[in-house]
Amino acid sequence: MSVDLAVVPVAGRGTRLLPLTKSQPKEMLPMGRKPVVQYVVEELARCGIGRLLFVTGPGKTAIENHFDIDAELIDSLRATGKEELLTELAFEREDIEYFYTRQRRQLGLGHAVLCARPVVGSQSFVVALGDSIIGMHAQSEVVATMIEKFESSRCAAIIAFEEVPREEVVHYGIAQPRGQIDDVFELDDLIEKPTVDEAPSNLAVAARYVFSPAIFDCLEKTPRGKGNEIQLTDAVRMLIREGRQVLGVRLMPHEQRFDIGNFESYFLAFAEFAMADEQYGPSLQRRMGELLERYQR
Ligand code: G1P
Repeated sequence: MSVDLAVVPVAGRGTRLLPLTKSQPKEMLPMGRKPVVQYVVEELARCGIGRLLFVTGPGKTAIENHFDIDAELIDSLRATGKEELLTELAFEREDIEYFYTRQRRQLGLGHAVLCARPVVGSQSFVVALGDSIIGMHAQSEVVATMIEKFESSRCAAIIAFEEVPREEVVHYGIAQPRGQIDDVFELDDLIEKPTVDEAPSNLAVAARYVFSPAIFDCLEKTPRGKGNEIQLTDAVRMLIREGRQVLGVRLMPHEQRFDIGNFESYFLAFAEFAMADEQYGPSLQRRMGELLERYQR
């Protein structure tokens, strides 16, 4: 059976976005009309994912509520003649089964993925970070491409990469490619948040992965790394060192990654999503032009 299970870690506290994220999950921040994580789920549904496991943590119940079918709200919209708003809730009926588990200790992304092990077992699976949107309005098929490639090769993992400006490598897992860098390439190494001088390339892990269950054994053995956390990157590195093949796939130009990890990238992403809004985008673009003149004076 084709890979149809995705693990979506949403347990991180979002400390870089305080105070915004003090009592609301960063994955629920608005991006134009929808919360960030809704785009992630819609992208995965389009790529053939039918089972989705959220790895949640403290203060994240808003995510569970968001993906529930809210019969009371539906009834009240009908009773008050607002049937046209029902289309806004169509995502509740996405053909996905949801599962939830909790990361009970904040030990990093690698540990969050390891928390999925009892549910995932011996299946291959996708990891999609719940705080990153791929492509404007999440119009990306990269996960489907990665699953296809994963199944037609004998690799143990395949990871999406995006080129970033050299000074930004410090925020990401960075690839050391083996041989020529084509749309799909082999990895020689992967380094979590290197300095600009250490970085072997400017290809940054772009929040989407496909793993064979072999990653779990590596995660079990991975000691704490950067930030004193168990890093997914370090477990991938262990896979490579054990002689397993790990591939990279480059995002296409229309598959830019929208990051909400810090205020600068969140503001930028929100502005772009709002300006691309079908209804309000054109007037907003005009208004932004006027604002630009005012702020540049
Ligand atoms: C995590 C990963 C990093 C990856 C990034 C992509 O970092 O550890 O390798 O490049 O996500 O969003 P975080 O943003 O959680 O610090």
